[in-house]
Amino acid sequence: MIDELIEKRFSPYSFSDKEIAKEDLLKLFDAARKSPSSYNEQPWRFIVGTKANKETYNKIYDTLVEGNKEWADQASVLILTVAANEFSKNGKKNHHSEYDLGQSVAFLTLQATELDIYLHQMAGFSREKAKENFNIPNYFTPITVIALGFKNDEDKKPEKSRKLINELVFENSFRK
Ligand SMILES: Cc1cc2nc3c(=O)[nH]c(=O)nc-3n(C[C@H](O)[C@H](O)[C@H](O)COP(=O)(O)O)c2cc1C
Repeated sequence: MIDELIEKRFSPYSFSDKEIAKEDLLKLFDAARKSPSSYNEQPWRFIVGTKANKETYNKIYDTLVEGNKEWADQASVLILTVAANEFSKNGKKNHHSEYDLGQSVAFLTLQATELDIYLHQMAGFSREKAKENFNIPNYFTPITVIALGFKNDEDKKPEKSRKLINELVFENSFRK
């Protein structure tokens, strides 16, 4: 058996009205900041919009593609994730910043699951609009929007197919 938090997690399409307490939200970002990163650069940035601060929430929501707009407005919080493309020390390209951001979101996700908070990550948004709405400089790239909140009780984890371990893990030679 793998850890129950991993089994419990899924990406819901509906959320309850219940808001996330500020201290819980802070716990999620505390988990994110403890994630490892190349040269400890910590290249992740998060812009947070809550329904209590509709201005930022709307500016994030505005970037979503139509298909995501249909359900994402139920989420009590929207997060725009951003990766720093360059090392702050020397301006060189950081080839692992998106990897590091993704990993910090994985930490955040598991901490959220522990608090019964569910995330739905989205690639379906306009990076250009996100850069414009938040004046994000060129050496940062918006990577995802995340909808999060408590899920609806009726919303159950769907069965989804997963690749088998032997399709992903090889011992002797690489296979496509
Ligand atoms: C980087 C990333 C981008 C995604 N983009 C979208 C999206 O734009 N819209 C959507 O409905 N789901 C999106 N998803 C959710 C995936 O479809 C979902 O994680 C996948 O089907 C596995 O389902 P599960 O998370 O419930 O286990 C995205 C997930 C990730 C990690």
